[in-house]
Formats: sequence, structure tokens, C-alpha cells
Amino acid sequence: MNRTRLNSAERAVYRRYANLALPRHTSYPIAPAWREDYNADDFRTDLSESAQRRRPLSLYVHIPFCERLCYYCACTKEIVSPAKRRANDPGESFLEGIEREAERFGEFLTGSRVEQVHLGGGSPTFLRPDQLQRLWRVLTTHFAIAPDAEVAVEIDPRITTREHLTTLRELGFNRLSMGIQDFTAKVQQAVNRIQPFEVVERVVAWSRELGFSSINFDLIYGLPFQTLESMAETLDYTIALSPDRIAFYRLAVIPEIFRWQNVFHPDDLPGGDLPLDLNLLAIRRFQEAGYEFIGLDHFAKPTEALAHARRGHTLHRNFQGMTTGKELDIIGLGPSAISQLNSAFAQNVKNTTDWLKGLENAFATERGLRLSPDDRIRRELMQQLYGHGIIRKTHIERRFGIDFDDYFADELERLRSFVRERLVTLESDAIRLIDPLGRLLVRVVAAVFDAYLPATAFRTGLSPHLSSKVG
Ligand SMILES: C[S@@+](CC[C@H](N)C(=O)[O-])C[C@H]1O[C@@H](n2cnc3c(N)ncnc32)[C@H](O)[C@@H]1O
Ligand code: SF4
Repeated sequence: MNRTRLNSAERAVYRRYANLALPRHTSYPIAPAWREDYNADDFRTDLSESAQRRRPLSLYVHIPFCERLCYYCACTKEIVSPAKRRANDPGESFLEGIEREAERFGEFLTGSRVEQVHLGGGSPTFLRPDQLQRLWRVLTTHFAIAPDAEVAVEIDPRITTREHLTTLRELGFNRLSMGIQDFTAKVQQAVNRIQPFEVVERVVAWSRELGFSSINFDLIYGLPFQTLESMAETLDYTIALSPDRIAFYRLAVIPEIFRWQNVFHPDDLPGGDLPLDLNLLAIRRFQEAGYEFIGLDHFAKPTEALAHARRGHTLHRNFQGMTTGKELDIIGLGPSAISQLNSAFAQNVKNTTDWLKGLENAFATERGLRLSPDDRIRRELMQQLYGHGIIRKTHIERRFGIDFDDYFADELERLRSFVRERLVTLESDAIRLIDPLGRLLVRVVAAVFDAYLPATAFRTGLSPHLSSKVG
């Protein structure tokens, strides 16, 4: 972003829109618009149609367990204390479920090449190294994972041992994403996640030594007690460890859904313009440190695949945030996991026991959606807008055989007020976000093109990483 300081007129426009609970479009249509009557039979039909096309695949495995609760957390997870685990380790029945699910997928997808694998959670390194080996054996038995696949795992540095990392590296994992959130003691205390800098520093050093090619840090702004000074400290620590990618998420606070967030006192959360200023500070500091600003909330070193994809116009937005731009079908395994096919979305039931039960006879599908022709057009448009800040009309017209100005006449009309507010320019062949307001408020522009709003607008103010898991 070229400019990271806003004048007072720009701040006034920002304030008008900033607190709207709008989706971040990690999928289009967004998950709350999916249908509860989409079932396992529908998914089988869509999967077999997709399998015939032999599209390359991305596997997502959701490992829902964590040792303790972080009070901000919006992920689908199950807290299993070490004592509870000693009595009954849920990792074992989970792995049996994954085996059953992988077998079901294997029936359809034997000929498809897997180009990406992502273990998410919860905390994948809740599984012991021998359990991770078993998980990998299951995946490689039922799927054709390419030797040069991108293989990534989310790790919680507090519970990740050197043995975990050695095992993952030996299995072929090459990318790590670490939950960091904030480096300062007061914030860590408030969110029940004590994670000293030295712990992260040690895990980063091991990862580099073992040859992981890319390390991502997840940070959150909007947490209790964050100030510009505390954020400056977190950013200093982050930059000192030089991760290859950074995700800088705005805290999603929805205590009606995530009831443990009720421990936060509203007065302790950054208010007024502070969240904006925390974001601007981070954008400025990361850019000064040589990172490129990617999409809504990601940063990457210029040598990173994500930055290459941005320059090559092949960025993709999905449930894992921004990814490199291969057109892959996503196959989701585990409770709450989402599959994203060329023609449909399907999500598994969220509760682990229900997921295991559901898998006894079929897929454990809870909801989903078959895409209409209109959904596909808008989905492509969202990809362009979030990934590249521009919608190229001729690209959409050629791909879908429509007249853009005619098809989107209403939307173009609604965008006119954003032209006056300097969020977008309307050009003969393009709609372009204006730096900095358009980039910061991309969700507001995207909302104009979302045919499912406003019915679902107020249930989805979640960060990209999360909306997959909680809808
Ligand atoms: C599954 S967690 C990451 C792995 C691991 N469980 C950990 O926390 O270290 C995925 C990421 O979601 C983000 N996240 C969780 N709850 C959030 C919330 N309420 N708002 C914004 N981001 C959130 C955090 O940055 C977190 O690192
Ligand atoms: S942030 Fe990560 S470790 Fe904390 S509760 Fe959520 S999923 Fe678990």
C-alpha cells in the first residue's frame, strides 16, 4: 500500500463503514448462505462429477484438539487437558475416523494428483509424532500426493517439540504456520495464552535448521490491552524473527457464539480509531521491513510464492486465507472441514463424536451448496477484487459470456457513491480499488457484489481463517 496515513476526511469515511459486520469472502457464496438440506448423497454426486474432471487437489485435514483455551479463539476446537488425555486420548479415535473418511474419498479420487496438503485446527501438533506419522500413512495410502507438493501445518509453538518438527520434516512437510497473536505479557495474560518470545524463537530456530522453506506467523489486532506501544513491541519481535509470511487478522469478537469471549471487558478492547491505527502501523512497519501487502490481511517477503502469485495475478482466496493461484479442488477431512469443488461446497459436521458417527455409513456432510451460474461469476469477481484490487471486465466477459455493464448495472450504480468517497474508480474496462481507503475497505466494495447480502451480513464478521470453521 503506497500510503499508510489517513487524513481526517478519509478517517470519517473509514468510520462510516469500519464496524459493519461484513463477510471477508473466504468463499463465495459465504458459508451462512449454504443449505442445511444439502446432504451426503448430494456430496457424493458432486464429488464424482468433479472426480471425472481429474482436477488437481488440495487436502485439508482439521485436527480439532487443543490443550487449553485461548479466550479470543473462534476456531472449531475441543479442549483436552493433559490429564483428560491420559485417561482417554481422543487422537486415536480421530485417526480411525480420518482413515474411514480417506477411504471414502479414495474411491472417487484415486487418479487425481494432490498438489497441496494443509493440516489445520485446533492444533495439529496436539497429535504425538507417532500419531502424525500414522496420519501421513493414511493420507499417502489413499491419495496420490505429488513429490513436489506444498505441505503445510499449523503449529502452536507452546506444544510443539523438536521431535514433532523433525518428524514433520521427514514426512515431507515444508511449510509451517505458527500461532503467535501478540508478544506482550499483559495481552498474553488477558487472552490466557502465555507464550514467551524465547519459546517462539526456539521453535523458529529449529524449523530453519530442519529446512522448512516457509514460516508464517499469525498475529491478531483488536485484543484486550493492545496499544500502539504494545503493538510496536510485537511488530519489533516479529520482524526480528523474519517470518516469510505474516497473517495480521482483525479480532472477530462475537460473544453470542464464542461465549468464552465474554471474559473480555469491552473497555479493555481497543476502541475508536485504535484498531485502524494498529492496522496502519503494522502495514507501515511490515512494508518498511520489506514485506509486500497481499490482499486484505496478509504480508509476504518478495521472494515468497504468495508475492510471486500476486505479481503474476494468480492469487487465490480460500478458507486458509490467501494462497498461490492453482485452481485446485479442496478436499476437507475431519470435523467441520470444508470441501470446495468446482461446482459445490460441502462442510462436515463440527462435533467430533457426530463426525465419527456420520462416517459410519457415508460422508459426514452437514451442509453445502451447489453453485449456480451466477454464483460462479461472482465467485471469480471476488477472487479478483480481494487478490488484486481490480475487477477486469473483459476477463469476466470472456470467461462467462456476459456483457459486464449490462449484467452488473445495479451494482455499478451502487458503486457511484464509493467513487465520490474515493474507494474505487470506475473505468471503461475495470473497477479498481483506490489506495489506501479502497484497500482497507475492500469488504465494503465486495458486499455490493454479494447477491446473498444483507440476509447473511451480520453473521459473518470473521477473519478469513475462521469463517470456514464457524461459518
Ligand atoms: C487454528 S489457529 C492456529 C494454530 C494453533 N491453534 C495456534 O493457535 O497456535 C488459527 C488462527 O486463527 C486466528 N484466530 C483465532 N481466533 C480468532 C479470532 N477470534 N479473531 C481473529 N483471528 C482469530 C489466530 O491468529 C490463530 O493463529
Ligand atoms: S487459538 Fe489455537 S491454540 Fe488457542 S484455542 Fe484456538 S485453536 Fe486452540
